[in-house]
Amino acid sequence: MKTTIPCDVTDIRQHEAGRLRIEWAAIEMPVLELIRKRFAEEKPLAGLRVAACLHVTSETANLMRTLQAGGAEVVLCASNPLSTQDEVAASLVEDYGMSVYARKGEDNETYYAHLNAALDSAPHITMDDGADLVSLLHTERSALLPEIYGSTEETTTGVIRLKAMHKDGALRLPVIAVNESDTKHLFDNRYGTGQSTLDGILRATNILLAGKAVVVVGYGWCGKGIAARAAGQGAQVVVVEVNPVRALEAVMDGHRSMDMSEAAQIGDVFVTVTGNKHVIRKKHFNTMKSGAIVCNSGHFNVELDLPGLEELARARRTVRPFVEEFELLDGRKINLLGEGRLINLAAAEGHPAAVMDMSFANQALAAEMLANSAKGERLAVGVHTIAEDLDREVARLKLASMGVSLEVLTPEQVKYLDSWQEGT
Ligand SMILES: NC(=O)c1ccc[n+]([C@@H]2O[C@H](COP(=O)([O-])OP(=O)(O)OC[C@H]3O[C@@H](n4cnc5c(N)ncnc54)[C@H](O)[C@@H]3O)[C@@H](O)[C@H]2O)c1
Repeated sequence: MKTTIPCDVTDIRQHEAGRLRIEWAAIEMPVLELIRKRFAEEKPLAGLRVAACLHVTSETANLMRTLQAGGAEVVLCASNPLSTQDEVAASLVEDYGMSVYARKGEDNETYYAHLNAALDSAPHITMDDGADLVSLLHTERSALLPEIYGSTEETTTGVIRLKAMHKDGALRLPVIAVNESDTKHLFDNRYGTGQSTLDGILRATNILLAGKAVVVVGYGWCGKGIAARAAGQGAQVVVVEVNPVRALEAVMDGHRSMDMSEAAQIGDVFVTVTGNKHVIRKKHFNTMKSGAIVCNSGHFNVELDLPGLEELARARRTVRPFVEEFELLDGRKINLLGEGRLINLAAAEGHPAAVMDMSFANQALAAEMLANSAKGERLAVGVHTIAEDLDREVARLKLASMGVSLEVLTPEQVKYLDSWQEGT
């Protein structure tokens, strides 16, 4: 092995398998490839250090390659202890010369040591999936803040945390909320989480979904995607929502909707995707059928009251990889998947590359926006979004890569839409 690059990965010898995965994902990422080619010519990130805290997957690797092509020095750490693809981490170090700090299954202490190692690079730009780096930057590592142009945020939960920080007057840097782009949440959260969450559940359990009652807690973009795909497999979908509009939407989409206490009693499989805390808790576990399967695909495992489940159990054992059986005091059994962490990343491979193509095109453009802002007027402290024309351009490029043509407004139509005089 030739590497002398600072890193902490599970086994650098796995790099060849990782490189193949990275190349395989690249085939489905044509928009990012176009940006990578432009970055290679224009070098918009020349001389900049980027610290990224993202799921270390083959798709993320292609984003890192894009930033590197743009001239950035990149350091990557994991945004979840269970989401790292170890061979991809090895390849990024060995084949692409990047510093990576990520080991699948790392404990909490290592997780934070890795975040700190990424920040030790004194970055100009940071990238987050869940706001953990920004949070560390505002607590233990605040000395680094003056040199940072800004950060980008990938997911709903991170954006919620950042908006809460800004509302409290605590946020001290500009953040670009990539999740807010239409070409991110409409596709990644809905189709990506929809498909890969079911993939994670099926890989972990190999159950037949047809005929099962699948309870989806949260009917946001992720929940809608999971529900539609579970229904497509013949499951009876039950939605639990706190927002009346979304509960109504679920009903009119053809699902049943009810509160968590009612759903707990009838579900065979439970998936949480709310971005909220303890949406399934002790009183719900206490009324579930024996054999119920419970998992989470929201950003943090706090969606499930895991300490509560532990208190209810008299025994626990791992029955398959990523499946832990909890035997309750009355003998009922509840199966927890992937330690309650994002099941699509814990037991499957995360989102397919075709949707991450658009999410990471947005990330690359956000990094460029921050780099450009440093040359002129800096972005104000706060939570920003990517301009609508860039968002649409990502969609346009994606359609072009799929060979899909797009209708164009005629001059007469443009005039008509801009006017108010013309009626019937
Ligand atoms: N697994 C993945 O790869 C992946 C990908 C994208 C987003 N996420 C995460 O998934 C979560 C959901 O994201 P989203 O974009 O769908 O968010 P969203 O805001 O569109 O939807 C969340 C929904 O949950 C509902 N909700 C909140 N508390 C609830 C409760 N106690 N019971 C029932 N419903 C409740 C809200 O009303 C809302 O409709 C976030 O944590 C996000 O970061 C995960």
